Amino acid sequence: MPLVDDIARAELEQLSARGLLRTLEPLRTPPGAEIELRPGERLVNLCSNDYLGLAGDPRVAGALADGARQWGAGAGASRLVSGDFLPQHELEGALAALAGTEAALLFNSGYAANCAIVPVFAGPEDLILSDVLNHASLIDGCRLSRARVEVFPHRDLAAVERLLAKTPARRKLLVTDAIFSMDGDRAPLRELQALCDARGALLMVDEAHATGVFGPRGAGLCAQEGVQPALRMGTLSKALGVAGAYVAASRAVCDLLVNRARPLVFSTALPPALACAALESLRIATGPEGEQRRARLWSNVRRFAAGLEALGRPASADSPIVPFILGDPDTAVQVAARLRELGHLAKAIRPPTVPAGTSRIRFALSAAHSAAQVDAALAALRTALLVK
Ligand SMILES: Cc1ncc(COP(=O)(O)O)c(C=O)c1O
Repeated sequence: MPLVDDIARAELEQLSARGLLRTLEPLRTPPGAEIELRPGERLVNLCSNDYLGLAGDPRVAGALADGARQWGAGAGASRLVSGDFLPQHELEGALAALAGTEAALLFNSGYAANCAIVPVFAGPEDLILSDVLNHASLIDGCRLSRARVEVFPHRDLAAVERLLAKTPARRKLLVTDAIFSMDGDRAPLRELQALCDARGALLMVDEAHATGVFGPRGAGLCAQEGVQPALRMGTLSKALGVAGAYVAASRAVCDLLVNRARPLVFSTALPPALACAALESLRIATGPEGEQRRARLWSNVRRFAAGLEALGRPASADSPIVPFILGDPDTAVQVAARLRELGHLAKAIRPPTVPAGTSRIRFALSAAHSAAQVDAALAALRTALLVK
């Protein structure tokens, strides 16, 4: 019987040999456009999902501290026991108002939300259609549901139509990212909604990278596209700069989730202080300052995409996520290392996060970046590619 350390070391060696080993390295500074990793190593952060630059905002951090003073550090129990506090309800009301839905319900993370929601609405007698590039949390939600899962080619409406037409399943659920997390492109939400409506399927949209970034008052891509899916999930952890997630839906849907969603029922609730921080972040993101931050964000996205085009690598300006595909994992790691030497943090993304042969640098732009930082990032990328 091998010791657990022997098992771990053997697996780590295999990962390392394939260029797929990942390690942790803590930041020495709060989140922001500029961060410090090794002592004295200042880097422009080009790989955070802090799209509006709110994660390090003193007002949001202050609301967290004030919230903790008033409500304590932790919720102490699942919401169904004694972990349900007023700030969580206030936040749910604000999120529902933003989404234009009857209700909203919080989860501890986007990952937990997807694992929670999908199995409540699809089971062994049902069919789930899932875009091949959906986030791992949706994939895991599908697995937990024990439904039959048909993975369709990326954004392929003809495949969706075919799959929806032929199924005898009791219930059909189509799940998609709104913004694909590693490619930054958008799901064809209007077309997907029309196909689902025509075939009596439920549509679930993951707005993790769309909340705060798209739509009126940052309400998301569904709001921008005028789509009202049955289940709309979003996160508080990315543009809103805090942690946690929500589903915006009807009251009945939220009530059923309170009864059946295992990550909600069997897990300690999101601390109420975090709800206080998210309320402050939401106040900023949905107000005039949010509009200004979104304008800066989109200006940075367009500037970066134009710069890539000038490098001969046209990129869409569909979202703040801009992938730069390099192919094999070693090349991606080398280019990331070179960027870091040049003062820029943009991590290599490798399988299994992305399909084999598509290892990449995933750039993420933020309203916190200055135009000069965007230009410097492009110059660093040009140099890093030459050295490769
Ligand atoms: C599309 C998508 N859904 C869900 C998640 C999970 O969200 P969270 O980081 O809040 O767990 C992420 C991010 O990691 C994501 O990119």
